Formats: sequence, structure tokens, C-alpha cells
Amino acid sequence: MLRNREIILGVSGGIAAYKSVYLCRELTRRGANVHVVMTNNATQFVTPLTFQTISGNSVTHELFELFHGSEIGHVALADRAHAIVVAPATANILGKVANGIADDFLSTMIMATRVRVLFAPAMNVVMWESAAMQRNIASLLADGYHTVGPVPGELACGVHGSGKMSEPETILEALEIMLTPKDLAGERVLVTAGPTLEPIDPVRFVSNHSSGKMGYALARAAVRRGATVTLVSGPTVQPDPLDARVIRVTTAREMRDAVMAEAAAATVICKVAAVCDWRPVTAHPVKLKKGAESPGALDLEANPDILAELGRTKRPGQILLGFAAETTDVTDNARRKLEAKHLDVIVANDVTSPRAGFHSDTNTVQILTADGDEVRVPNLPKDRVADRILGVVAKLRAKG
Ligand code: CTP
Repeated sequence: MLRNREIILGVSGGIAAYKSVYLCRELTRRGANVHVVMTNNATQFVTPLTFQTISGNSVTHELFELFHGSEIGHVALADRAHAIVVAPATANILGKVANGIADDFLSTMIMATRVRVLFAPAMNVVMWESAAMQRNIASLLADGYHTVGPVPGELACGVHGSGKMSEPETILEALEIMLTPKDLAGERVLVTAGPTLEPIDPVRFVSNHSSGKMGYALARAAVRRGATVTLVSGPTVQPDPLDARVIRVTTAREMRDAVMAEAAAATVICKVAAVCDWRPVTAHPVKLKKGAESPGALDLEANPDILAELGRTKRPGQILLGFAAETTDVTDNARRKLEAKHLDVIVANDVTSPRAGFHSDTNTVQILTADGDEVRVPNLPKDRVADRILGVVAKLRAKG
């Protein structure tokens, strides 16, 4: 999404400016051509040379500094950008833009642009909560500007509260959301992710190797494409996707109850979770001690097949997508599951192939549809695999 994009990174004068160095680095690493515009106050926190070295472009920090031939600098730069992200955005720059004040390069350029602008506010908690700031934020949102954060945390002034700039990864996610065409707008996408965990006693459980990476990538991709997303997640260490509602569960039965409660409202259901097929018959209330209490063998009973139940209760127009984690006869097994569970799409995942499956950041899949279409997705980062999968979903929806 950021490859070959012209991105203007506005940096205003707050201590979080040091984090924007990493943001600049990540933007360039993802293929964006970054032009940094600093306010004079920002140069007190980080030097222009730092940003110049990292972005590979000269840094602008004075009004009317940039003249290219006869073009006026702030207009020329703003005209050819795909997006502007201001991080950190101080109370001062937010107040200026909200009230139409253009008295330095950054505020003038923002006023002179039609491209989308994302602000990542950062300030003291009292400033953030002040009536003036909240009024300004409401005006900015009403005017079509985008914001991400701030988040609660330990602030530079030593106080704990809301006002901390979002982490660079979150700002990048917000930027990608802002830039992605919204071909899933109006869809309500329910995604399940991660493993389930079936207790033996309070310290032991039966589970599987699922990391949740693929399901979370799918939830993020659906948010980017404009869907309203609910994610039902088993235990994982993945951070919550921005702008998705997350329901955390532990066991297969909890996942079943959460999914069935949400399913009626969903227009698309993507069942990525690796649900445990069995659970111990008895979950002991206290820790089993080795020796006398050793269970020897575990008695297991079947868990509900959530996807099969969704297939039986599918509403007209609902698109139902499953995953098939396979180690042998991948395509045949996946197609059998597609038919048996009444799915529209199944993603066949050979979890034994290199750089694919559980825990890997990349995946190699085959997408099969009930109409007989087959799409082979080569080894790609899971975010890109997720986009290919949602491309198939969008195409199915377009077919009607
Ligand atoms: N699934 C489910 N509930 C279960 C088991 C699986 O909803 N109790 C869903 C998974 O989320 C996935 C699909 O069914 O979308 C296929 O899961 P998989 O583990 O590949 O297959 P199973 O149906 O469990 O069959 P098998 O274990 O025989 O391969």
C-alpha cells in the first residue's frame, strides 16, 4: 500500500518527535518516498539532518524555503503527495489547522492541500482533555481530517493519562486504512482467529500451534477495506487490530457461543481459528499432583464444529469462508470441507510447506470457491495473503 507513494511526514515540536524517526524509517522501508516537514520547534527535539539521512530527501522547516523553479514550495509539495501524516501533532498545530491559521510551512501546506491528512496527537493529559482541544478535534474530524490516538500511558511530564502518541506501527496501520480503497464498505465481517485452549486443570491445557497471525491479518485487511469488523479471538499475543471490535475467548465452546451470538449480524464470516476438535472430559478444578493423581491417559470428547453449524444456519447473501489446515492431499481435503460445511470459499493451507502455516509471518495458500474457481497465492506476507483472500470475497459479492 505504501510502495512508491509520496508521503509527507509533518513533525511538530513535542518530545514524541524522536519516535517519528522510526516512523520515517518504517515508511521508507515499506517503499514510500518520504518528505519531512518540520516546524521550527520540532528542530529543537530532533535535527533535520536525522530525518534527511533516513528519508534520503531534504527536510523543509521554514516557510517559502522550497522553491522549485517557479512553483511555490508548499503548494508543489502538497500537490504531488498521496497523503500527509503529522506525528507528533501538538496542540498548537491541531489548533492552527482547526481554525484556519497558516503561519508556517506545515500549517500552510496543510491548508493548501486536497490530499488526506492524518494527525497523531501527542500532549499533556490536561491539554488533551481541555475544552479547546476537544473542540478543535471535533472540528478537524468534521472537516474530514483523520486522527489516530492519543493513547493512555506514562507521559513525558511524568503523569499517567491519555495524551501519549500512538506507536509508529499503529500510525502506519491508520495511514494504510486511510489510503486503501473501501471496496468492503457496508460489509460486517466476523473473523475468528488463534487457537482454542481446552483446560485439563488450572495450569495445563490441550491446544494447537496457531499464533493468530493469519486471522489478525485478515481482520486488519477487512478494516482497511472499509468493513465493520468483529474479531473473536482465542488466546494469542497479537495486538488488537485498529478499529475492530475484539471478543476474547478461551475454549471452543466459548468461541462457539460468541460466534453464534454475532453471526446473524454478519454479512461475511471468515473462520480462520484453529479450533480444538476435542476437549478433556473433565477439567479438574485444582492442579493435579504428579504421582497418585496422574491421569495416565486423557479422556477426550468432541467439541462443536462451529463452521459446520454456521453452514447449516447460513443466511441468504452471507459469505462463509473457512480455512483448511492440512498436511496431506491438501486440495482434495479442502474441497471436501468446502462441500461438507456448505462454504462459499475455503483457503487451503499446507501447514507443512516452508515459510507457511502456524507462527510464520508468511503463508502460501490456495483459495477454492464453491463456484469451482481456484486461486493460487504464492508465498507472501500474511497481510498480503489476507488481501488476496478478501479480493476473492469482494469478487463474489460483486457477482451477487
Ligand atoms: N472449525 C470449526 N470448529 C471446529 C473445527 C474446525 O469451526 N471444531 C473450522 C476452522 O475454523 C476452519 C475449518 O473448520 O475454518 C477447518 O478446520 P480444520 O481444523 O482444517 O478441519 P476440521 O474440520 O477440524 O477437520 P480435520 O481435523 O478432520 O482436518
